[in-house]
Amino acid sequence: SNNKIERLKQVVRNIPDFPIEGIQFKDVTPLFQFSENLKDLTDVLSSLYKDKGITKVVGIESRGFIMGPILALNLDAGFVPIRKPGKLPAETIEENYEKEYGFDTIQIHKDSLSADDVVLIHDDLLATGGTMHAAYNLVKRMGVKKIYINFIIELELLKGRSLFPDDVEIETLLKYDI
Ligand code: PRP
Ligand code: MG
Repeated sequence: SNNKIERLKQVVRNIPDFPIEGIQFKDVTPLFQFSENLKDLTDVLSSLYKDKGITKVVGIESRGFIMGPILALNLDAGFVPIRKPGKLPAETIEENYEKEYGFDTIQIHKDSLSADDVVLIHDDLLATGGTMHAAYNLVKRMGVKKIYINFIIELELLKGRSLFPDDVEIETLLKYDI
């Protein structure tokens, strides 16, 4: 499985100057594009949570919607979306968070999680942590039993982990010293 992780790390593409000059963009699409990559990624992510009793995987729009449902299916859990504002049709609760420029908002359906849920929140990438921190606060407000956090990629230098309490289990598969 360490071999798989090392191989997957080679598969992630670096795109210089996207979306703006000076940014090295980590492109995850080759992880999904080729069946052997998608299978290895699915296997290693799923195996981290096999024995945790996860009942719901929560995915963050947009890139958390790719592996989120796959993980849910593998873990015999349901899938719940966190979306950008104005997209969810039923009653929602929301959190605001700071982005590089200005503020953003995310929402979740009020009736999507309950007190007996063990939740895995999934997204593709941990950068500043602002997005996941807002998602964590949303799920926390729903009063669930336990929350795990998962990313495919962690940009360690940005120290996104530091936003979370020490007792929250955060697993990231591919770590980069940037
Ligand atoms: C990207 C990425 C994470 C977030 C990480 O999403 O998919 O969700 O940024 O950044 P942070 O840790 O600094 O919050 P983006 O908002 O670009 O939207 P997308 O998923 O719809 O592409
Ligand atoms: Mg995203």
